[in-house]
Amino acid sequence: MDIAGKVAVVTGAGSGIGAALTRSFTGNGAKVMAADIDLGRVAEIASETGAYPIGVDVSREEDNVRLIEETEAQLGPIDLFCANAGVAYEGSEQSADEEWERMWRVNFLSHVYASRHLIPRWQARGSGYFLVTASAAGLLTNIGAAQYSVTKHAAVALAEWLAVTYGDDGIKVSCLCPQGVLTPILEKEGETAEFLRATAITPEAVAESVIEGLREERFLILPHPEVAQYEQRRAEDRDGWLEAMRRLRRNLRAR
Ligand SMILES: NC(=O)c1ccc[n+]([C@@H]2O[C@H](COP(=O)([O-])OP(=O)(O)OC[C@H]3O[C@@H](n4cnc5c(N)ncnc54)[C@H](O)[C@@H]3O)[C@@H](O)[C@H]2O)c1
Repeated sequence: MDIAGKVAVVTGAGSGIGAALTRSFTGNGAKVMAADIDLGRVAEIASETGAYPIGVDVSREEDNVRLIEETEAQLGPIDLFCANAGVAYEGSEQSADEEWERMWRVNFLSHVYASRHLIPRWQARGSGYFLVTASAAGLLTNIGAAQYSVTKHAAVALAEWLAVTYGDDGIKVSCLCPQGVLTPILEKEGETAEFLRATAITPEAVAESVIEGLREERFLILPHPEVAQYEQRRAEDRDGWLEAMRRLRRNLRAR
């Protein structure tokens, strides 16, 4: 897909990767509906880029419906939907159910809701493109962040399932899986954030990678190419990979 002239939705557009995608898409001639739970922030990005701002909470099904309907009413049929909004915090199996549910709703169920209401429209039109922002944590794992790892694995699994099920209807799916990106998510305290900052890239570099991945209509978009090697190592020798991850965890805790 060449983004020029397309109608795109970007969720989580008020900050970080979503703001960079909005700048890049509008700069490349797309009409963009920029959605975020923080309407003030997304309104600023919109006035800077010429995108259209909208306040939505992607964890609510009715907000996804409103986002899709308002975009199509104002800008025309949606060509590309970037399900990018997400939250990250540390946690474990000891975390309260509410902590699991909150992340499950934002990082995973939001993708179910958006695709539930987009797929029938796209099937009727014979085309449509769904881009899920998962994470390298969705292919590997994230030390110290159980909910994040689990919900991002679920996001990758849903994206794969949609690609298999609706590819013959002309529907494309890509899954963006960066490692560290220099956004407020990585500004948090903690050994994992500090470790990821060492190889972190800018949101603008992620947006460039997305433009290229969309052009090639590639399923996996990996702004950090080394993630492909880590995933291969995990597939070839799961026990060796787990031991390497335990070693990394020990090293991080010893700092
Ligand atoms: N920064 C990283 O290191 C990194 C790495 C891999 C994947 N990701 C993923 O990239 C995506 C974007 O993250 P980012 O780094 O740009 O973070 P960010 O915090 O800069 O931006 C996230 C945006 O999502 C919005 N948002 C949060 N909950 C929402 C909701 N319920 N409804 C609508 N909007 C909501 C926030 O207001 C914020 O503007 C996330 O899915 C994140 O998990 C980030």
